[in-house]
Amino acid sequence: MHSFEQYMPTKIVFGKEAELKAGTLAKEWQAKKVLLVYGGGSVVRSGLLGRVEAVLKAEGIEVEELGGVKPNPRMSLAKEGVKKAINSGADLVMAVGGGSCIDTAKAIAIAAAKPGTDLEEFWSGKIPIEKALPVGVVLTIAAAGSEMSDSAVLTNEETGKKAGAHSDLVRPKFAMMNPELMYTLPKYQLTCGIVDIMMHTMERYFTPVDGNELTDEIAEGVLRTVIRNGLKAYEDQQNYDALSEIMWCGSISHNGITGLGRPKDFLCHKLGHQLGAKFDEAHGATLSAVWGSWARYVYHLDEARFANYGRKVWNIDEENDEKTAVAAIEKTEEFFRSLHMPTCLGDMKMGIQPDEVLKEMAGKATAGDTMKVGAFQKMGAKELYEIYKKANHR
Ligand code: NZQ
Ligand code: ZN
Repeated sequence: MHSFEQYMPTKIVFGKEAELKAGTLAKEWQAKKVLLVYGGGSVVRSGLLGRVEAVLKAEGIEVEELGGVKPNPRMSLAKEGVKKAINSGADLVMAVGGGSCIDTAKAIAIAAAKPGTDLEEFWSGKIPIEKALPVGVVLTIAAAGSEMSDSAVLTNEETGKKAGAHSDLVRPKFAMMNPELMYTLPKYQLTCGIVDIMMHTMERYFTPVDGNELTDEIAEGVLRTVIRNGLKAYEDQQNYDALSEIMWCGSISHNGITGLGRPKDFLCHKLGHQLGAKFDEAHGATLSAVWGSWARYVYHLDEARFANYGRKVWNIDEENDEKTAVAAIEKTEEFFRSLHMPTCLGDMKMGIQPDEVLKEMAGKATAGDTMKVGAFQKMGAKELYEIYKKANHR
């Protein structure tokens, strides 16, 4: 077995009315003032924000708010949040929403713990992340897995760059997960989330390192579970059990446990982040749009692994590894399409793009072709361009 390190500090409170624990959980962290971070209003309309505020206040905790987080969250709003946290003396940041709110909360937690710094400098690596305020989460969508992850992804509107900062210090201290909160999700967000969960698992499964059998088995189990329940929830979005399974898969897919002892690939995420930054496409959609092109580009490097994925996840067994691998790629895309998720750039609102744009994005994803990305196959700008090109159709 390959050696690994795993750190999972997040206390999970899962089930109906989980959000009502917000007050007692914040108190466990000795919070006196909580900055609540939320998005474009879904949590106001559903009454969730009010419920969370009420239980915080019932514990004698003061509340400050930062609303307006957008999907593909912007650095500028996070900076506003940093000021708010410092000026109000917030000692805990609590996201009420999805990945975009959680990542904004994490960013605030980093810079507010070190007044006088510029948030961007943590993203550029100029200032190391050495401390952070504690972050709590009330999760409203299963997707990004940020409720247990070590990363925060922000888009800098001035440079057009979407990138993550990583530190164990930003792993949330606690996350409340009530699957009922997902009843109000737009269908498109539900399916984007299902894709993202699959991708967090697959971007760790398809790596150049074999071994660590349990890691593979967990990943395959997450994939089978999210696919099966994804179809059920797509048919009936009030299916509490299906949503529960999806929600828990979301956390497991991205807390590290599906990739122990091996390098992460995350090349499709690099490709997808460019589409998110430039065209403001939903994160999950950017991933399904490029995955098939990536998979066809690389599968011949390890047909056995792709075939194993086909056998264990899709129950496909053709006469040899290559045929099983190809069938598994097709089956995955068929699944994406059954959820009305894009499998090419032309399926998204951005549409087919001219060559220059594809080259520009490939360049940005590799810092001007100065670094290789991915692990299953390490790639530079030229290869990324090839993958975009293969996905650039309708
Ligand atoms: O803003 P509101 O009004 O709340 O609406 C949101 C938003 O429009 C809506 N929504 C969420 N929960 C809802 C709901 N609407 C009704 N009822 C509910 N219960 O859904 C929309 C999308 O929300 P968002 O937070 O953007 O979704 P998601 O969780 O998919 O997060 C995506 C972001 O996370 C990043 C992505 O790049 C993207 O920016 N990621 C973060 C990661 C991490 N920190 O570990 C890893 C991921 O790979 C990913 O990169
Ligand atoms: Zn993702």
